[in-house]
Amino acid sequence: MNIAQGIAYVGVNDHEIDLFEGLYDVPNGMAYNSYVILDEKIAVMDSVDARFTQQWLDNVAAAVDGRTPDYLVVHHMEPDHSGSIQAFMEAYPTATVVASAKAFAMMQLYFGTDYADRQLVVKEGATLSLGAHELTFVAAPMVHWPEVMMSYDAAAKVLFSADAFGKFGALDVEEDWACEARRYYFGIVGKFGKQVQALLKKVGKLDVAAICPLHGPVLCDEYFAQTESDLGFYLNLYNIWSSYGVETEGVFIAYTSVYGHTKEAVEQLAAKFEAAGCPKVVVSDLAREDMAECVEDAFRYGKIVLATTTYNGGVFPTMSTFIEHLVEHNYQNKLVGLVENGSWAPTAAKGMRAKLEECKDLTIAEAVVTVKGKAGDDAAAQMDALAAEMLA
Ligand code: FEO
Repeated sequence: MNIAQGIAYVGVNDHEIDLFEGLYDVPNGMAYNSYVILDEKIAVMDSVDARFTQQWLDNVAAAVDGRTPDYLVVHHMEPDHSGSIQAFMEAYPTATVVASAKAFAMMQLYFGTDYADRQLVVKEGATLSLGAHELTFVAAPMVHWPEVMMSYDAAAKVLFSADAFGKFGALDVEEDWACEARRYYFGIVGKFGKQVQALLKKVGKLDVAAICPLHGPVLCDEYFAQTESDLGFYLNLYNIWSSYGVETEGVFIAYTSVYGHTKEAVEQLAAKFEAAGCPKVVVSDLAREDMAECVEDAFRYGKIVLATTTYNGGVFPTMSTFIEHLVEHNYQNKLVGLVENGSWAPTAAKGMRAKLEECKDLTIAEAVVTVKGKAGDDAAAQMDALAAEMLA
């Protein structure tokens, strides 16, 4: 597949993987992208997971068609991309590896060598001429690791964006971009909004016609002609996500329920939000739905309700885990409502409030719903107050 003049795709699809990073369910697999720039010099952009080394080397060999790659550009050292570097360096003993100083330090850790006699260390603003194509390197620390670099090919107007603008899912499966890109973003990069904002400022100064990420499809006008019309769609979403803004107006209600009474209360509350004109109400059972999907919904909407049972004198474990995910991912800038259930000594709201204290710029609604066993008139009145406060 040709991406642009002189740029070929040589990545692989992984349908064997069960959990990406040992954590994320990927029912449609994963793509590890790699590209080759064919010019007077040849640069291969990143390698792939070690389980696909031979397939990738075959793809590279087919793309270079008898020529020998001059450079392997390493944008990111996480093993889903660095796992085949050693095999490449053995297959092409005259090639030079191009990376940031931090990436070479990681090569020493992973491979026992930093290829000292075959390395080219680059940093922000450095350039590498391949002929007509010239790469300019863009530092992108913490998007997603500290060593990350991106590179911009001005001739082709292509940004090689490392993990940024990637998504879950192999490339031979058709699916909505935003859904799996959002789940990927908030799971993998969501904590580092500040760094992504800094990157977007740099990207805004470049004339970009196509983005080549390390996962997911190449984003460009032509490739996406049938779905989205321009790169602005993706850049706008990344701007909202990384600034912890509101992507969709509405409320997300995340709950756990032991015998169904908290679930019933949540259904009542959802109906009240809808009756009061809330544009969208999304309800998820944290124990039974994908946790990463719930995390992305928590970031997607500006308002969230957490509803759970008092358990062992504290917060029900699944809700505790969910809140830990939010805190870890820098959850902020949201309005939060609390619903607790407890048949004799309800304390879950207090416990959830304490867990959320680490988050900055969260507003917790004053109205709290306390269900004692099963929601009655008192709880219904508290729900009215909570919905009114959150929609005010
Ligand atoms: Fe796709 Fe951070 O590795």
